[in-house]
Amino acid sequence: MSAIRFEITHVCKQSGARCGILHTPHGDVETPMFMPVGTLATVKFLSPEEIKALGAGVILANTYHLWLRPGEDIVDKAGGVQKFMNYSGPMLTDSGGFQVFSLADRRKIKEEGVTFKSHLDGSTLFLSPEKSIQIQNKIGADIIMSFDECAPYPCSYDYMKNSVERTLRWAKRGKDAHQRPEEQALFGIVQGGEYQDLREMCAKTLAEMDFPGYSIGGTSVGESKETMYKMIDYSVKYLPWEKPRYLMGVGSVDAILEGILRNVDMFDCVLPTRIARHGTLMTSQGRVNIKKQEYEEDFGPLDPECDCYTCKNYSRAYLRHLFRCNEGLGSRLMSIHNLRFLLSLTEQARKAIREDRFGDFKAELFKKYNLNSV
Ligand code: GUN
Ligand code: ZN
Repeated sequence: MSAIRFEITHVCKQSGARCGILHTPHGDVETPMFMPVGTLATVKFLSPEEIKALGAGVILANTYHLWLRPGEDIVDKAGGVQKFMNYSGPMLTDSGGFQVFSLADRRKIKEEGVTFKSHLDGSTLFLSPEKSIQIQNKIGADIIMSFDECAPYPCSYDYMKNSVERTLRWAKRGKDAHQRPEEQALFGIVQGGEYQDLREMCAKTLAEMDFPGYSIGGTSVGESKETMYKMIDYSVKYLPWEKPRYLMGVGSVDAILEGILRNVDMFDCVLPTRIARHGTLMTSQGRVNIKKQEYEEDFGPLDPECDCYTCKNYSRAYLRHLFRCNEGLGSRLMSIHNLRFLLSLTEQARKAIREDRFGDFKAELFKKYNLNSV
């Protein structure tokens, strides 16, 4: 028995987009969903109660970061990541694959695994598919990821072919090393860059290995949006319909909607929380940079269409003041808003799917945001 069960509850008659319920050991969540990122077992500045109040389903943590600090044994002794951070909902950990390739210095990729320097103190570290799964087994999230290579972009066909073939061998090794399949669902990750035949080969091989869910990796690495949508098409086409699909590291409004249209069920991105801490807000009127002088005496809400705690209780002028004075409350309030903005977007998308009007919903939002890239 798999740790999760995925139930597709409706397919939009207008667009073919789907919605569903993902049943996990820590509760049921509705899809399509956006998953806030809590790299170090904390969604920066927010308490678990606040995260829940935003309507979040699953939240993410990172194997690489928790391995370095506090170490997976500490998280294990605490009773797993949910107990450790006092979060009662479902969680997902990324494998470290992507973080090793984006954060660490002086990488050496071999068949066995990857040697690299820690981004904290420069010490030499080694991560392999088995090691990543062992760490994720101790961290204890409901959904865990295979250890993969997220190859650079652009990347030659030959490099990508070798990389995908190795990622597939790594997926098999990780699956064999997984000790808790009944408590933690291990996803396979589709790579292959922009190359259709490699995406196809990767997706088909992973599908034969029968994972409880599949991720689409190697996107949002510098390619155009059009290329990203093709990468999604090439991957999804060969994955089993009845299993959940997760598009890794993608959280812009247009890409989420295009992903939902292509039957992707899960999304995550650090962007909303990261830009919030830098004073950039995603709103129904487009992006707002709270630093701007024009908000000095603007006592209206950040986003009049938003139902979040920040928009119901605070003004743009006050948020600007907090930001300029580098006050922690500003980071909190702005993170709350940006997360709610994307969680609300996916809530509305689910409703539109259930009502067989996702095509119209998507077209309306594209028209509304045309002038501002949110
Ligand atoms: N996060 C964003 N992209 C990726 C990817 O390709 N692989 C992994 N493991 N995590 C990611
Ligand atoms: Zn708001």
